[in-house]
Amino acid sequence: MVEYLKIVYVRGRQVLDSRGTPTVEATVTVRNCIDGELTEGRAIVPAGSGSGAHEAAEIRDGGDAFMGMGVKTAAQNIEKYLQEPLAGTEVTDQRRIDHILLEADGTEDKSRLGANALLAVSLASADAAAKALHVPLYRYLGGVQGQKMPVPMMSIVNGGAHANNSLDVQEFMIVPVGADSIAQGVEWCCEIYHVLKKILSDRGLSTGLGDEGGFSPNLSTEMEAIDFIMDAIQAAGFVPGKDVCISLDVAAGRWKGRGDRDYCMPKQKRCYSARELMQEWEDLVSKYPIFSLEDPLGEDDWEGWQELTVRLSQKTLLVGDALFATSPGRLWQGIEKGAANAVLIQPNQIGTLTETMETVRLAKEHGYRTIMSHRSGESEDSFIADLAVALNTGLIKAGAPGRGERTAKYNQLLRIEEELYGESAAVEEP
Ligand code: PGA
Ligand code: ZN
Repeated sequence: MVEYLKIVYVRGRQVLDSRGTPTVEATVTVRNCIDGELTEGRAIVPAGSGSGAHEAAEIRDGGDAFMGMGVKTAAQNIEKYLQEPLAGTEVTDQRRIDHILLEADGTEDKSRLGANALLAVSLASADAAAKALHVPLYRYLGGVQGQKMPVPMMSIVNGGAHANNSLDVQEFMIVPVGADSIAQGVEWCCEIYHVLKKILSDRGLSTGLGDEGGFSPNLSTEMEAIDFIMDAIQAAGFVPGKDVCISLDVAAGRWKGRGDRDYCMPKQKRCYSARELMQEWEDLVSKYPIFSLEDPLGEDDWEGWQELTVRLSQKTLLVGDALFATSPGRLWQGIEKGAANAVLIQPNQIGTLTETMETVRLAKEHGYRTIMSHRSGESEDSFIADLAVALNTGLIKAGAPGRGERTAKYNQLLRIEEELYGESAAVEEP
């Protein structure tokens, strides 16, 4: 292979995420050895709302501590420990770059240098390579095969850890399954979003936004939220189940139970045994057009996941987020046990681009659906939009259109679709 795009510098810095919390940005500079031209790639890592137990370890500050040294330390680690081993490496050799990152860290969970430091460099390297080669990022990452526009999953009501309201389910999403392009899908979702705002506001309910841009009204049950969304879908002129479906991210790993009740809703204080909770999901799926249920059970409840998969996998997608943590090893466990039938893909849960791609490959090989996803703490960086197209994930979760860090992803998808398909339809049946 001709190697001529060499890494010359890697730098880290502290920047802000959408919650006003510090996060890591990396810059990777490469030199074109033929003409000497320098090109800079850049990436900002997102942050979850308190990481799941199986995610790679980031170095960051607890709570809202702006004063802490966590993120600054992670950012400094980039220059201190990664500049030297990466200098001179061919930037298009992503596997080698990620291998060097893993070696430099040396821990199982990426805790020495921080998964956020590693991921920032991993993604910024790909960005630098694409720019140096003058090809769009999605095409650099996916080659000629990366061409499937994902169906958007928009979280239009926020609860759980993403909002200061009474709802315990974290995300209530709409999925425009009948749309035949990303442009049409985004348009439909925005129409429903605006109608929902009016419905809530006419009832005197709050239309304030949660962390992912969805509304966060105080409602007495999760069903009420679903019914409002069903009303909004219909009032906007769409047919639920045919044009637009509903998805939930329960994030049930946060419903820590007591005694023989395995799950307790932290806000509404209702408690369930695993068996009762599974019955709730089964009832829900029979009553509403539920496209997917994400983390309907906790990340260590393998037995529950196995049973729920037997009961519901023909009817809906059962998505492992905290369950798999984008880890090829955890997904492999799930495949062997027959747990879930879809996996959420969040690069910062695992910490390198190569491992993220490995998880997607493994999922596809074993018939699991893949959903590219943002985190609740995001930035204007739209890398995941390009990555979703490059890896043909088929679905993307990027929040509601009321916040700029979320529209950054949808807007990038609109540009990619125009470039790939012009005015013609592009989205496959979900
Ligand atoms: P998080 O939420 O980024 O707060 O973990 C995203 C998700 O659970 O899908
Ligand atoms: Zn989730």
